[in-house]
Amino acid sequence: MAAKFRALLLLLALSLARPASASRKLLVVLLDGFRSDYISDEALESLPGFKEIVSRGVKVDYLTPDFPSLSYPNYYTLMTGRHCEVHQMIGNYMWDPSTNKSFDIGVNRDSLMPLWWNGSEPLWVTLTKAKKKVYMYYWPGCEVEILGVRPTYCLEYKNVPTDINFANAVSDALDSFKSGRADLAAIYHERIDVEGHHYGPSSPQRKDALKAVDTVLKHMTKWIQERELQDRLNVLIFSDHGMTDIFWMDKVIELHKYVSPSDLQQVKDRGPVVSLWPAPGKHSEVLSMLRAVEHMTVYEKEAIPSRFYYKKGKFVSPLTLVADEGWFITEQPFRDTQDLASLATPPIPRQHQLFATDSRETLPFWMNSTGKREGWQHGWHGYDNELMDMRGIFLAFGPDFKSNFRAAPIRSVDVYNVMCNVAGIAPLPNNGSWSRVMCMLKGQASWALAVRPSSCTLALILLLLFA
Ligand SMILES: *[C@@H]1O[C@H](CO)[C@@H](O)[C@H](O)[C@H]1NC(C)=O
Ligand SMILES: *[C@@H]1O[C@H](CO)[C@@H](O)[C@H](O)[C@H]1NC(C)=O
Ligand SMILES: *[C@@H]1O[C@H](CO)[C@@H](O)[C@H](O)[C@H]1NC(C)=O
Ligand SMILES: *[C@@H]1O[C@H](CO)[C@@H](O)[C@H](O)[C@H]1NC(C)=O
Ligand SMILES: [Zn+2]
Repeated sequence: MAAKFRALLLLLALSLARPASASRKLLVVLLDGFRSDYISDEALESLPGFKEIVSRGVKVDYLTPDFPSLSYPNYYTLMTGRHCEVHQMIGNYMWDPSTNKSFDIGVNRDSLMPLWWNGSEPLWVTLTKAKKKVYMYYWPGCEVEILGVRPTYCLEYKNVPTDINFANAVSDALDSFKSGRADLAAIYHERIDVEGHHYGPSSPQRKDALKAVDTVLKHMTKWIQERELQDRLNVLIFSDHGMTDIFWMDKVIELHKYVSPSDLQQVKDRGPVVSLWPAPGKHSEVLSMLRAVEHMTVYEKEAIPSRFYYKKGKFVSPLTLVADEGWFITEQPFRDTQDLASLATPPIPRQHQLFATDSRETLPFWMNSTGKREGWQHGWHGYDNELMDMRGIFLAFGPDFKSNFRAAPIRSVDVYNVMCNVAGIAPLPNNGSWSRVMCMLKGQASWALAVRPSSCTLALILLLLFA
């Protein structure tokens, strides 16, 4: 019996031990605005870097973003596994009436306030607290002190990172793993989103931006071998949302034609989703005027569909406008630019940033090679997150992942559990579904045993004890 008992203890110890991945390194690459069909089977034929990764690892059909299908909300969903209404980062532009502070796509100083960020603890903070070394390259928010913590290293986002910046970040991250400086590295790249906005998702310019990324990835797989990291490094590549065509000036909704500026206290963002705070006493009037507008829906806060997991967010405005796919809502020419103009440092031009000086300038023009703000945007995102064009990607390879494995669709809330698992850290409570992602991992059965002893384990223990 004693021998049997010792054997049992050993078995228990083995099954409760962390999987081998506990000591493995994790590289995470976030490619902004990467729509799922950019790497369709057909497209993969001319993308050798992606093709190799797909054959070596896991590719899901597509990744459904959280609503709104915008960047900041999904950056945080990916890193917390929580829906926007739980982590509170509900838009690229937000306003807090109680402090009169604004979050403007991360570029104004008030964007760094804990107010916007401490609604949830992102993975990099949890890892840093657990004494893991986290390296972040251009990752939006890595410069922010969140819940009193900053990552080990943050190469701050200043302007759209170039393809060379991206290649250098990948190479530096791999060196940091090799030398033991880093346990997790996270790299953000924006160019595919930028070209998708400027020229449209099907444009040659967007395809060229993708080819450049493909070239870096092709080098990356080689560099991993050269540094002998292939058996101890997992790599995840995913996007925040997709992109759809917009139709200038055919599908534009000009708010000032329907609502007088004096009836509004605040307006945030433009395009697919707009947040409105009616002036005191004007709520019903504004609501009924906007109900008559075609090609968009106006929601009072409580009436926002539950499937968006959005309405309970503390920064959600009394009225939210959601445009039909391909339609673009522009704010009124009165839009206040004081926030931007009064900054000590000039605002950094970012893709979605608002510049409003006159009516024309409130439209999403960008500076093309003429040097004037006159290029029209041809792509946007932010619409209903279930739309096909809003879908993103998820790829993974490395010792913990199955190879040449096609997986069913997942959602952006699901990515967090995968990262926690391969980084060897217990996930915080979240909205991801383990059953949607477990299939992509090797030896997932032993992990399931280790984390939640199932009735199977108990049966085995009883069997051993009484055999
Ligand atoms: C809120 O902030 C804006 C811009 O910073 C300013 O113009 C406005 O007067 C402020 N409102 C109140 C009530 O303080
Ligand atoms: C987050 O920041 C806000 C505003 O600074 C503060 O009121 C709140 O207590 C903070 N929450 C946590 C958990 O630190
Ligand atoms: C800049 O954009 C405008 C509007 O889309 C277009 O008419 C013009 O030809 C563009 N100029 C160049 C040099 O690309
Ligand atoms: C999402 O997760 C949070 C944190 O665990 C939980 O409080 C919330 O109820 C969840 N929401 C849904 C819709 O499951
Ligand atoms: Zn974008």
